Amino acid sequence: MRILYPFAKRFIAGEDLPTALRNICRLNEDGYLCTIDVLGEDTHSPEQAANARDEYIALLRALETHPSPQDLSVKLSQMGLAFDYDLCKQNVEAVIDAAGQNTVRFDMEGSDLTQGIIDMCLDLHEAHPSLGIVVQAYLHRTEKDVATMIDKQISVRLCKGAYKEPEDIAFQDMQDIRENFLKLACILLKEGHLPAIATHDETLIQEVLKFIEKENIQPEQFYFELLYGVRRDLQQHLLDLGYRVRIYVPYGSAWLPYTLRRLAERKENILFVVKSLIRE
Ligand code: FDA
Repeated sequence: MRILYPFAKRFIAGEDLPTALRNICRLNEDGYLCTIDVLGEDTHSPEQAANARDEYIALLRALETHPSPQDLSVKLSQMGLAFDYDLCKQNVEAVIDAAGQNTVRFDMEGSDLTQGIIDMCLDLHEAHPSLGIVVQAYLHRTEKDVATMIDKQISVRLCKGAYKEPEDIAFQDMQDIRENFLKLACILLKEGHLPAIATHDETLIQEVLKFIEKENIQPEQFYFELLYGVRRDLQQHLLDLGYRVRIYVPYGSAWLPYTLRRLAERKENILFVVKSLIRE
């Protein structure tokens, strides 16, 4: 699968920590905030989960000399959630304890883990109030989860959702997903605690900007979040408008599953890979 690396490179900030830190510094200097993801997911043993935990802790040690705090995005499947809730909780708490001024947010994964991720967040939030979570607009359950997070004042990142889910639990039609996204974004912007609106969908962003203006919501009440390497023009535009823009910055050697999700999102990406394979 190394053959996919030229494509992956666009979406990841490096395969190792020093390279990623250089890119994070550059983004910070350009005015962006970052949320850092040490790539990896679906661990199958306590040793793999402990390695993932230690990689996050190594990142946090390296950030001790960094001028500004960062946000960390953590996948609970990487910390052992799929096979041992309590072990996962210990691993994640070790990361949160090491985080200091940096904040931690749980990414949302496939629907087999949705409830576990929400439970873990609710479990840990009281002791760690800056802990945040991601929700996916394509899931029917998400409006209820958003209400729970608002009630607990937990910071939510709203995205469309990147996994293949069945129609009994998830909207399939892009227009339905968009409508639900906009509905949830408006609820979060009005009632949520520091929500993050995570999309590159310009139609949705225009609607969100109209809502913000109508409701007189200030730039310091929320974030826009976009993925590293995706729509840099839009990232810059939102920054130029005076909004806080946070970039999701993944790095590490386990780049394949993340890259495959980015590949599947756009047929142009698949064409790019096919063309580069033909050129080989
Ligand atoms: P959409 O897919 O309609 O894309 C809009 C435009 O953005 C496209 O027309 C294209 O120009 C550009 N674009 C989008 N994806 C691209 C790609 N792969 N390559 C090139 N251009 C692309 N999902 C999840 O399930 N759990 C999570 O925790 C997260 N976390 C997360 C954090 C952040 C900061 C973001 C922005 C996204 C996520 N996601 C996620 C992914 C999300 O669910 C979704 O799959 C992608 O953001 C793509 O959807 P858009 O809303 O951008 O719209």
